[in-house]
Amino acid sequence: MSSFQHLNEHLPDAAIRVSSPGRVNLLGEHVDYNQGIVLPAAIDRFVRLAAHPRSDRLVSIRALDFDGEVVFSLDGLEQRADIDGQPLPQWALYPAGVAWSLQAGGLPLSGMDAVYASDLPIGAGLSSSAAVELAFAVAWQAAADWQLERMQLAQACQFAENRYVGVGCGLMDQFACAHGVARHALLFDLRTLSWQPLPLPPETAIVIADSGVRRQLAASEYNQRRKECEQAVELLKQQLANIHSLRDVSREDFEMHQAMLPETTRKRARHVIEEIERVKQASFRLVEEDAVGFGRLMVEGHRSLRDLFEVSTPELDALVETAVEIEGCYGSRLTGAGFGGCTVSLVRRERAAEFSNELAAKYASRTGRAANVYVCQPSRGARVEGVETHSHG
Ligand code: GLA
Repeated sequence: MSSFQHLNEHLPDAAIRVSSPGRVNLLGEHVDYNQGIVLPAAIDRFVRLAAHPRSDRLVSIRALDFDGEVVFSLDGLEQRADIDGQPLPQWALYPAGVAWSLQAGGLPLSGMDAVYASDLPIGAGLSSSAAVELAFAVAWQAAADWQLERMQLAQACQFAENRYVGVGCGLMDQFACAHGVARHALLFDLRTLSWQPLPLPPETAIVIADSGVRRQLAASEYNQRRKECEQAVELLKQQLANIHSLRDVSREDFEMHQAMLPETTRKRARHVIEEIERVKQASFRLVEEDAVGFGRLMVEGHRSLRDLFEVSTPELDALVETAVEIEGCYGSRLTGAGFGGCTVSLVRRERAAEFSNELAAKYASRTGRAANVYVCQPSRGARVEGVETHSHG
């Protein structure tokens, strides 16, 4: 595989090789941290990692995408510093956080030399960070004599991102990256942690379009939305004593009590409650192989993210509005947290290439911006591609 060959130039005697996919979310946005139901898929864009264990406690990492290099120790990770006491660069917080999280869970780790690179766009809403986290978690597991369930690996990575990197994400991204199934979307229930692969409608393709826009305030806006959802639960509890999250609020109860919520909170809660309902509907559409019905739910989901949850941008709206006018498109919406990043469209497979070209051209003439557009296949989750038994000092 050419990308591993590239890594081999930097670490020729790597004992462990891992590929770890990004993800696209087809439906169920901003509901994972409300114990909702989501429908993501792992995609065929990967972080590739080559590593070999060391006999000491040092971890040296080269990140080819950032032209970065760092060495830190597995002892004293809470300092977030390298072996010279300098603060770790932002990109290194993800692997260091995974080491910190696994060790906090009582799992012994070995030192490691590692190099990684990816063909996933960074910070575009396709979970490049979850892909990096899972790549390192899987590599450390391959070098150790312990074994975690995939869900536990995903949770350890989410813990790293929440507590070490400081981003209050839900579990969807790490889940999808760990559990991906070729040609399938993953219906995942965040309340029970149960999940099930569902095939995409026949003769369809997933097309991702990167708006090229990244919002600086995305993290603080994201945390703000989380707070608003928590606030909605607190207020609704005055009438609905048994609820723990917005997942527990039925549409009927919401209609009955919504007037007690301030306007913004009411809009956020309505999005979450209706979006969870949309995911349920969408899973039936998949079982019925109904691409048209599925696409309609995607478009409704986008409107709700735009008008109620208010996480879209003019560029994402332009991509969605343009996409749905092109022949062969069943539906389109922003994917991931929003505030810039990508849209996902469900398209008739035979039209996927023309659709992609047309979308890029029309977006450019409408906004003056270039969009990267790719046709994606749902792929397998993070896994070891090869382990050789020799280790190095
Ligand atoms: C980001 C987070 C996820 C999820 C989505 C929105 O991708 O990492 O946990 O909340 O936003 O659905």
